[in-house]
Formats: sequence, structure tokens, C-alpha cells
Amino acid sequence: MAGGSGTRLWPLSRAGYPKQFLVLSGNQSLFQQAVARLAALADADLAVRPPLVVGNEEHRFLVLDQLRELPVPPADVLLEPCGRNTAPAVTLAALQAMSQGDDPVMVVTPADQTVTDADAFTAALRRAVHRAAGGDLVVLGVDPDRPETGYGYIQAAGLAGAQRVARFVEKPSLATAQAYLAEGGYYWNAGLFVLRASTWLKALGQFRPDILAATRTAYDGAQRDGAFLRPNAAAFAAVPAESVDYAVMEACPGSAFHLAMEPLKAGWNDLGAWEAVWQVGEHDAQGNVARGDALLSGCENTLVQAGERLVAAVGLRDVMVVETADAVLVADRSRSQEVKHIVAQLAQSG
Ligand code: GDD
Ligand code: MG
Repeated sequence: MAGGSGTRLWPLSRAGYPKQFLVLSGNQSLFQQAVARLAALADADLAVRPPLVVGNEEHRFLVLDQLRELPVPPADVLLEPCGRNTAPAVTLAALQAMSQGDDPVMVVTPADQTVTDADAFTAALRRAVHRAAGGDLVVLGVDPDRPETGYGYIQAAGLAGAQRVARFVEKPSLATAQAYLAEGGYYWNAGLFVLRASTWLKALGQFRPDILAATRTAYDGAQRDGAFLRPNAAAFAAVPAESVDYAVMEACPGSAFHLAMEPLKAGWNDLGAWEAVWQVGEHDAQGNVARGDALLSGCENTLVQAGERLVAAVGLRDVMVVETADAVLVADRSRSQEVKHIVAQLAQSG
């Protein structure tokens, strides 16, 4: 799923070049890292098909160029004329995955995360794949360390190994998230979903038949153009916008669909805002992260991201400086979530 916009990473993340295609850690973009992680799942008893990318029409060349830099077989790229959130995106992928006449397990991944322990990631996902082959829907659960409100929360029932999900709550209020942390037994949803293509279509058909029917109409009218597959634009624009989390995951507990959670202990990080880029970056002895042509003196716990010019910082503490050709962000590190308000102001002023 590579069709999001990533507004909290402004000014680097832009509508035409959103965060998943940026190199924010290491030397591959977040999108490339996500694709490479899944390609590594293949082993003696797990055959992995070429990736299926669902992204926005506007980013088609970014997707193709970045895929070409990876050692993966040519992918199918489903292009959405407009974003309808992730439930329709996964539905397009499921319909395409089943078009060869079988019913593969899909490992659905976001394109905006980093993982530090690749082996632990692979092992957890292989377990999830084997479980999903039996018909379960499987989510990956991360131990929470703060009451983050931008994530889904999973209440797991049962002990070690894969657990039954008793409750799934997407983006709770701060008070609710705090209560979950205090109570214990809750995990963050890592945003990865593992399930058979047919399981997804059945569950969506049960909980949101409107989304399934509208997306199927758009898919049935799809046109191929090389690697690109374009659903019918008018039909896709009419699909109700909803995320996987709200459309299906929240509805599973207590229904006939079995939702399981596989614990993920792999240094998972959602690169949602600049604070996270500082967290996963390479720190000097004073806790600074300098990226690009940056010079720091007497700074502490500061992020300087230089893009086009030399950026020098003196005596800063807990500050983030992000420089690009036409905009510079200077912000307090603890308030990186608020960058989205700047983007909203920019959108208003046109
Ligand atoms: N193709 C496509 N079309 N992809 C999309 C669209 C769309 O309309 N909207 C978002 N995506 C992609 C994003 O690029 C990202 O890679 C992924 O789908 C998830 O979307 P986000 O918008 O980033 O979701 P989120 O971060 O708010 O929440 C999800 O991830 C959290 C973990 O990072 C949820 O699954 C949460 O429950 C979870 O905790
Ligand atoms: Mg996200």
C-alpha cells in the first residue's frame, strides 16, 4: 500500500513526492525497504510471488523507478486515480491476486515503516503466513511504550505465540490509549495484515458490502498498460473511502471471522513524523542526527536535515531543522505532530 500522503513530514514529504518514496533512514526509500522485507520471506516451503503495488496514478514513475533498483521480479502496479484509503486498495490487490485462479495468502504491508531486526521480522511474518493459510486474519502486534493515538490498539487474549484478538480499536482518544497502557495486555497494530485473498473478500463482503461491490466494479473495468493496471476511474472515484482498520479489523472480534495477533519484536517504527526520523537516525555522542550537508556545534538531541544547502546549527537543544529548496522547517522536537497544521494552513492559502 503506497498511496498515502504523509503530511507530517513536510517540507520534505510533498503531494507529488510523499514520504514513502523518500530516503529517511539508511539508503533505500521506505517503500523500497518494505518491498525488500517481503521478498526476503521466501524459503524452502514458502514461495513468494512478485510484489503487487497499489499506489496513486501521480506516483507511477516513482514506483517503477524505485522497484527497478531492487532485486525483485517485475511487479504489477495497480494505479488509483484518487485515494480511497486502504480498504479499497487491499480489495484491488485481492482481486488481482486471485485473477490467476488460485487463492494466495497476501502479506499486506504499509510503505511507511522501518524495522531494525530483519530476521525477527521475517520469522514473525512466516508464522503469520502459515496461520493465515488456515483461514485466519492475522495482524502483527508491537509492544506499546507510549499512549500514541495515531495507531490501532489490539487487546490480545491467550498466552505466548499467536493470540486471539479480543478487541481492535483504531486511533483511540488519548484518555483511552492511556487506559489501555495502564491496564496492560494491549498491543499496537503494526499496520501489516496477513490473510488469504478470499478471506479478505469474504470479510469485507460481510462488514462493508458497499465497498466490495463498488471496488469490484472498478476492478472489472480495469485496463492494462505494461506493468500498470488502471481500475475504471469513474467507478473507483465512487468507492466509499475507508481504512482496512475501520472497515474490517474493528468488526472482526465477536464475529464469525477469526482475527489472530502475531507478536512482532523487530524494532518496528512508524516514520510518521520528524521525531521518528530523529529516533531511528544515527546519533552522535550528544544525541544529534545530522543528515546531508549539516554542521553542528554545541547542539544536543537535535535533528538537522540538509537537502540543498549547507545548514549550520549552533547551541540548539531538542530542535528539528529540515531544509529543502523552497521551504525550511524549524520546530521543537516534542511538537513534530503539529507540522500537519502548517500543511493545512498552506492548503488553505492555496
Ligand atoms: N494505495 C493506497 N491508497 N495506499 C494508501 C492509501 C490509499 O488511498 N492511503 C494510505 N495508504 C498507504 C500509506 O501510504 C501507508 O503506507 C499505508 O497505506 C497505511 O496508511 P496510513 O495512512 O499511513 O495509516 P496510519 O498510519 O494512519 O494507520 C495504520 O498504520 C498504523 C501503523 O503505522 C493503521 O493500520 C493503524 O492501525 C496502525 O497502527
Ligand atoms: Mg502510517
